[in-house]
Amino acid sequence: MDTLHLGANSLESYWMPFTANRDFKRNPELVTGASGMYYTTRDGKPLLDGIAGLWCVNAGHGHPKIVEAIQKQAAQLDFASSFGFGHPLAFEYANRLISVAPEGLDHVFFTNSGSEATDTALKLALAYHHARGQGQRQRIIGRQRGYHGVGFGGLSAAGMGPHKRQFGMLLPGAAHMPHTHDPSRNAFSLGQPAHGAEIADTLEQMLQTYDPLTVAAVIVEPVAGSTGVLVPPIGYLERLRDICTRHGILLIFDEVVTGFGRLGHAFAAHRFNVTPDLIAIAKGMTNGAVPMGGVITSGEIYHTLMDSAAHGAVELSHGYTYSGHPLASAAALAALNVYIEEGVFEHAAAIEPLWQNRVHEMKGLPDVVDIRNLGLLAGIELGTDVANGKAIAKKVYDYCFERGVLIRPVANTIVLSPPLIISEEEIDVLFSTLAAALEAAGSQL
Ligand SMILES: Cc1ncc(COP(=O)(O)O)c(C=O)c1O
Repeated sequence: MDTLHLGANSLESYWMPFTANRDFKRNPELVTGASGMYYTTRDGKPLLDGIAGLWCVNAGHGHPKIVEAIQKQAAQLDFASSFGFGHPLAFEYANRLISVAPEGLDHVFFTNSGSEATDTALKLALAYHHARGQGQRQRIIGRQRGYHGVGFGGLSAAGMGPHKRQFGMLLPGAAHMPHTHDPSRNAFSLGQPAHGAEIADTLEQMLQTYDPLTVAAVIVEPVAGSTGVLVPPIGYLERLRDICTRHGILLIFDEVVTGFGRLGHAFAAHRFNVTPDLIAIAKGMTNGAVPMGGVITSGEIYHTLMDSAAHGAVELSHGYTYSGHPLASAAALAALNVYIEEGVFEHAAAIEPLWQNRVHEMKGLPDVVDIRNLGLLAGIELGTDVANGKAIAKKVYDYCFERGVLIRPVANTIVLSPPLIISEEEIDVLFSTLAAALEAAGSQL
């Protein structure tokens, strides 16, 4: 290819992530601006954002207070390392964040993404056990249909087979619990399904196979997002917590999607009243405006690592050039202030019943085989099998996009996760368009 002569507008050079590059480049969909609930497409049309960018723009696009904080910070201090050095804003944000975290989770390690957050959480778990003389605890237990980003650690713990096909053996010692999706008993549940708490007991069985003393951590998304919004059965997370506590195993919640108000509370841990030992965060942390992630940990983990190191020694050989980056810290602090001062989490909680009613009105439309929801999350599963459902989901996506509504097809499921500021009228537009799309897609096949 004659790359020297590619024009500025050529789509060739950018290798896009998790994208069918060749398809996209034949028929590109680009946005050039965003404000509040809407993107602006390249041809100037508004596009209602039904997925908060990618589960991240919780306070809506271009919030003026977040924009201003980033602009000011860029002018004042563009970069300062956090390796044996620092700047005040990262500390200020850490303190502010901890004030909304579940009780007992009182330290935070900063990363730049959700993938780095889950990898960091897994490394913290290993380092913690090592520091307390239990370095034999090296096994990580994840769950089928879990998604924890794309680093070697998170990918090993995740339970999406096709994501692993190209990348060899990954981490040794990762094992997986069964997922909780059980449409035979739970299809069309409103909120948390009634059946399936006992699926947590498979963890106990796995511990018989592996021995609890070899297990460092269990990692789960409280609500699995990327595999189609799988809501935990009532009592399931409580049982997982109990089993982990009894065996000295750390419980990690991957709240990259559920954190920062998605379920109407700061964290899913609040919503379910289950406190893990570590929480991985990203996405809504900065309202999506600057890349940032992190791991919130218990004081027990932090202090064990501090106390086990020699005086003057680096206690954890881990970190990123951009951990606690000034622009990310400024954006995160401003985002959290917006969330709290503007009642964004409360709005999500207040509008959830309407959201639930509207999404369940899709029941009975062509090809809809299950509907799942919690907080401002919803998954609408389509088709008689995955291949057929995937084809329908793509048609539904295209129909909605052409009519100015952005949804997300994930295999055979339409996933919805709007900015948490969504109004009743916008919910109406979203679901009326979706209903028409389902009718139209059904009649085309
Ligand atoms: C639950 C969960 N964990 C981790 C990640 C990875 O985050 P990132 O894409 O920022 O690396 C994602 C991304 O969607 C996610 O949904």
